[in-house]
Amino acid sequence: MKGIILAGGSGSRLHPITLAVSKQLMPVYNKPMIYYPISTLMYAGIREILIITTPTDAPLFKQLLGDGTALGCQFSYAVQEAPNGLAEAFIIGESFIGNSDVALILGDNIFYGSGLSALLQNAKNPKGGTIFAYPVQDPQSYGVVTFDHQQKALSIEEKPLNPSSNFAVPGIYFYDASVVNIAKSIQPSQRGELEITDVNTAYLKQGKLNVQKLDTGIAWLDTGTFESLRHAAQFVEVIETRQGLSVGAIELAAYEMGYISKDAFIALAKPLEKSGYGKNLLRNLQ
Ligand code: DAU
Repeated sequence: MKGIILAGGSGSRLHPITLAVSKQLMPVYNKPMIYYPISTLMYAGIREILIITTPTDAPLFKQLLGDGTALGCQFSYAVQEAPNGLAEAFIIGESFIGNSDVALILGDNIFYGSGLSALLQNAKNPKGGTIFAYPVQDPQSYGVVTFDHQQKALSIEEKPLNPSSNFAVPGIYFYDASVVNIAKSIQPSQRGELEITDVNTAYLKQGKLNVQKLDTGIAWLDTGTFESLRHAAQFVEVIETRQGLSVGAIELAAYEMGYISKDAFIALAKPLEKSGYGKNLLRNLQ
C-alpha cells in the first residue's frame, strides 16, 4: 500500500504565523508537524509516501525530509497549485497510486495511542474504503458520520450546522485504487473544494465503505487553530517528559518498524542530541 500526505492549504486559521511558512512545518512541541503524520503512515507499514505541498513550500519539505532513504522509506513530492480540496490529492497522485491501494493522511492530524499501529495495519487492503469515526465535542467542524442501530454508517455530512451525531471523521483514509476515478467524478462543493466527504459518500452508496469507531484510548488531535496547536504541543510534551517516550518521531518509527538497523537509528539520533530530541530517541533503546 502507498501513502499520501496532504500538506498544502492556506493555513488561514493560523495567520499571521503561516503567512510565510507552511503550517505543516510549524513545531508541535519539539518536531515539525509533518513528522506526526509521516510516522503514522510508517507505523501503518507504509513506506512509499507522496508528500503534496504548495508550490512555494515544496523546497523546504524536500530540505527537511529528503528522499526518505535514511528512514528506509521512499518519499516523493508533488504540488497542489491551489487548495482545491482534499480529494484532489488522488488526482494529483494518480500516477503515484497506479493500481495500488492508498492511504491519505492530512498533514495537520496527529494520532497517538496503544494499538494504533495494529489498527492501521488492519485497515490496509480495503475492499473499497476504510475510514474512522471518533467522538468529539464540536462535530460541526468536521465530516460527521451517522450510524444506524446496528452501528452501520448511514450517511456522512461535511461540517453540518446541526450534526446528527458527535462522531467526526479523522483525517486518515484507506482506499482501493478506484479512488482516483471517484475523485475525478465528483464536483466541487459550495465552498469550491473537491470534498473527501463526497468520496466517502460515493463508496458508501456502492456499499463499499467500512466505518470503524476509533477506540477513545487513541488520541486524535488536529492542529488547525491556535488553541488546538497549543493543546497538541502540550499533549506531546506531557507524554514525552512523563514517559520518556518519543511521540511522532520518524527515526523511531523507522527503527521500531524494522525499516532501519539499530546502528542506523543511533547514527540518526546522535547529531540531534544537543536539542534533547536525539537523547529522547536514544532513551527508547534502554
Ligand atoms: O481533520 C479532519 C477533517 O479534515 C475531516 O473531518 C473533514 O471531513 C475534512 O474536510 C477536513 O476538514 P478541515 O476543514 O479540517 O480541512 P482543512 O481545509 O483544514 O484541511 C485539512 C488539511 O489539508 C490542512 O492541513 C490543509 C490541507 N489542505 C487542505 C485543502 C482544502 C491541502 O493540502 N489542500 C487543500 O486543498
